[in-house]
Amino acid sequence: MEIVSLKNIQFNFSEKKRRTLNTTTSIAVIKDLSLTVNENEFCLITGPSGSGKTTLMHIIALMLHQKSGERKIFGKKITKESPLDEIYAIRKKIGYLFQSPYLPSHLTVKQFIEAQALLTGVGMRSARERAYEWLEELKIVDLANLLPTSLSGGERQRVALAALLVKDVSLLLLDEPTGNLDEENKEIVWKQITALKNKGFTVITVSHDEHLHSFFESHYLLNYGSLKKQ
Ligand SMILES: Nc1ncnc2c1ncn2[C@@H]1O[C@H](COP(=O)(O)OP(=O)(O)OP(=O)(O)O)[C@@H](O)[C@H]1O
Ligand SMILES: [Mg+2]
Repeated sequence: MEIVSLKNIQFNFSEKKRRTLNTTTSIAVIKDLSLTVNENEFCLITGPSGSGKTTLMHIIALMLHQKSGERKIFGKKITKESPLDEIYAIRKKIGYLFQSPYLPSHLTVKQFIEAQALLTGVGMRSARERAYEWLEELKIVDLANLLPTSLSGGERQRVALAALLVKDVSLLLLDEPTGNLDEENKEIVWKQITALKNKGFTVITVSHDEHLHSFFESHYLLNYGSLKKQ
């Protein structure tokens, strides 16, 4: 099954939005972009800073809408005009991990992950079980009672990932998830992400770091608004 299908997508930020940057020209960030990602595929997209990687992820996550072209997510065609309930139903299945994810400072790791599980509508007991399962899977059980201020960058990323995974998502969008980490922590985080392959997740990662390609089955370069298979 095709989880993501983009055909000839075009997107540009409007002049109004760029006004603060003191320019009047609108730039075409995404010019003619096509991409297919199948169920359980691990796909890497690299490209220079400013090439539109985050913009592309926002289009896939339905946070931005294309100006033209066709976008299907989980087989459903979604445009700017699509009803909100269709958009929300798809968003529920998507986990978006930011480069520097927000972790509330007043909740312990365990409390935060449990709270995210509760948001799916399950009861407390089930939320606790699910949280524990992912704490174990991502090897962060030892961190369960800590507050985010005492976590390292790599640990924070794994906690943020667990908080997405308890929500029963199936498509993970990872935006430079190891951009701020040293080599050792990068390796740990990627090992955990790679292990998700056996659990059926589909993963799209954008990054500057071309060295990550060994963790992925498909690799594209984003440049001048379109993708080139590597
Ligand atoms: N909200 C916005 N309004 C106007 N222009 C924007 C906005 N967001 C991004 N841009 C512009 O669009 C282009 C692509 O930005 P984007 O954030 O997608 O790049 P990126 O490849 O993710 O870069 P990086 O590797 O630095 O994260 C940049 O030129 C940027 O200035
Ligand atoms: Mg970016």
